[in-house]
Amino acid sequence: MSKTILVTGGAGFIGSNFIHYLYEKYDNNVNIINMDSLTYAGNLENLKDIANKENYTFINGDICDKDLVSKVLIEYPIDTVINFAAESHVDRSILDPDIFAKTNILGTLNLLNCCKKKWTNNDGSIDQSKRFLQVSTDEVYGSLGSDGFFTEVTPLNPRSPYSSSKTSADLFCISYYETYDMPIIITRCSNNYGPYQFPEKLIPLMIHNAMLLKNLPIYGDGLNIRDWLHVKDHCRAIDMVENDGKLGEVYNIGGHNERTNVFIVKRIIKSLAEKYDTQINEDLISYVEDRKGHDRRYGINPKKIDEELGWKPSIMFEEGIEMTIDWYLNNQEWVAGVTSGAYKDYYSTMYGK
Ligand code: NAD
Ligand code: TYD
Repeated sequence: MSKTILVTGGAGFIGSNFIHYLYEKYDNNVNIINMDSLTYAGNLENLKDIANKENYTFINGDICDKDLVSKVLIEYPIDTVINFAAESHVDRSILDPDIFAKTNILGTLNLLNCCKKKWTNNDGSIDQSKRFLQVSTDEVYGSLGSDGFFTEVTPLNPRSPYSSSKTSADLFCISYYETYDMPIIITRCSNNYGPYQFPEKLIPLMIHNAMLLKNLPIYGDGLNIRDWLHVKDHCRAIDMVENDGKLGEVYNIGGHNERTNVFIVKRIIKSLAEKYDTQINEDLISYVEDRKGHDRRYGINPKKIDEELGWKPSIMFEEGIEMTIDWYLNNQEWVAGVTSGAYKDYYSTMYGK
């Protein structure tokens, strides 16, 4: 029997890649309900190739809306909820934290409450055949020094409004597992890159700016480190955790691919200079004021998901970054479509005119 999955935030970067992944893998053997409130980061263009599928439904809705979420859970035979919906950008969370608390904490809490109500059996127990997968981030662990890696038992130590809101959501999820026996699993992934990523995040921002011969703003000394993973590997991991992960557990996801920001930016410059425009060069780099509270290093130890579920990254960075650059070169209309209006205001607030 085919499964019915409620994907929240499915019009964003990872959510839309995940929906594509599910159709590639399960085709007609999955029903997907995508609920997304289409903030600046949500874009139905990402899903235009599947919009007319019979086993796909889009609902323009907010995860904070109790009546709507309850109605969706009654109307569709949902087996699994996968919560991608979030405000996801650290810089925006520094400018305006409130919406991060609302969506990331209260929205997740609302989903938990609605699922709890719908999944409660007549005897008061919770239907253990259901799944609630919270898509979280390694940023909940805070910042590493030059040694060591995040494991699932690393103490939570969020340092930005974004990561604080994601940590709070994780804690609510864990408390609902412990208190009410809700069938919850949490994944915590490192930085993703790939197609459909909004050009406010490092990699698509640098590709976009370089193509326009605009400044490439690197924060601080540029030696902060992120552990980059191609979004398709993240999607495969989420699907594996949803199918075979243990309830109440956390799974870290990362590909042992730590790079400094300067390395990433220079790598993009080199590729675009060869493929797109020989005028693109390192003179475009400008070192700008550091991000407030800038986490120095993230690095994931993915041993648990490897040993328990057999997940390993499959796309190596050299291949993944070229695929991603090619995607942005071939989808300039998509970029033009998402970089109008609100994005321009945000960009001038962040980086000046
Ligand atoms: P994104 O910003 O690209 O997309 C978020 C989506 O959520 C958008 O489609 C937006 O419209 C939707 N949304 C926002 N508020 C909503 C609301 N109240 N109700 C319904 N929909 C709403 O984010 P992303 O990069 O795709 O990240 C998806 C999830 O993965 C987030 O929870 C994020 O914390 C987590 N995550 C992201 C990364 C990364 O590198 N991008 C890494 C680890 C974890
Ligand atoms: P980002 O893509 O915002 O992801 P996160 O903050 O969630 O890790 O940033 C990745 C790294 O790149 C981070 O160390 C901040 C840095 N960065 C810049 O140096 N310049 C920029 O313009 C942006 C957006 C990020």
